[in-house]
Amino acid sequence: STETEYFVIDDLLVESVFQPRREFSHKGSYGKATIIAGSYGKTGAAVLATQAALKTGAGLTFTLAPRCGYEILQTSCPEAMFIKGGEDYIVSFEVAKDTICGIGPGLGTHQDTQKEFLQFLKNYSKPLVLDADALNMISKDEKNLRLIPEKSIITPHPKEFVRLFGKTDNSFDRLELARKKSEELQIYMVLKDHHTQIITPQGKVFYNITGNAGLAKGGSGDVLTGILTSLLAQGYSEEHACILGVWLHGKAADCASEKYSKESMLPTDVINELGSVFIEMN
Ligand code: APR
Ligand code: MG
Repeated sequence: STETEYFVIDDLLVESVFQPRREFSHKGSYGKATIIAGSYGKTGAAVLATQAALKTGAGLTFTLAPRCGYEILQTSCPEAMFIKGGEDYIVSFEVAKDTICGIGPGLGTHQDTQKEFLQFLKNYSKPLVLDADALNMISKDEKNLRLIPEKSIITPHPKEFVRLFGKTDNSFDRLELARKKSEELQIYMVLKDHHTQIITPQGKVFYNITGNAGLAKGGSGDVLTGILTSLLAQGYSEEHACILGVWLHGKAADCASEKYSKESMLPTDVINELGSVFIEMN
């Protein structure tokens, strides 16, 4: 096992990672993002992840969701294309070859969804962004964890981390366990928390210092999933997508809290502040 290296995500690092949009470019230059999310009563999760993917700049954005979310998604995200993946929950994970998928927000854990999801993983080899119920459906089973494609990004909150890899006594042990599993499975981990940590399969640990307690609301994580999927689709490396994505999410949240307060700001406001963050960076 290699030595752990620690970094803080500061403005200098972010500047070195960020790729401004090129003047002579077209939608094909910025990739295809597919958000696989939602189930009856949780279409909002799919909406948030889709809007975040759009507002982060993917060339084309698709949402694979159940039929019950069709009108909601087409109305609230007119720029995204809808792919029907079932009636009230997703049972089909069929996606185009040239897209990057972010899977999990509001998916639910119906046994038919789980069965098809595991089958999908067995036949898929490109990096994925896996969050929420996508993680819950592969938890507590070592052989399911091994189905995660190499270089994928997983984004567990603390409880999801425990479900995936088990309990630890303290945050140091948790980081050590995350390090070991990242290397073993060759995946990137975004350990969501007040100060989110990114762990790479090569043993680097990045600490994020943007973001605030206004993010402590249902839906904030769904926004991060959309951002990360969009950055991967645009061609950022997995490591760079994690660094820029987590920083952007927190920075937009800091803008939203200044405008609306930590109490009143909503995940939707975070999405809408992404633009002011990009303006500052350009
Ligand atoms: N300070 C800074 N950042 C915070 C804070 C805080 N106090 N609290 C939360 N955040 C950030 C986290 O770092 C993370 O990026 O907000 C996001 C919260 O993500 P999740 O925990 O996934 O929350 P949520 O959006 O509610 O998830 C939606 O999916 O994970 C499931 O069970 C979960 O039903 C829920 C759904
Ligand atoms: Mg979540």
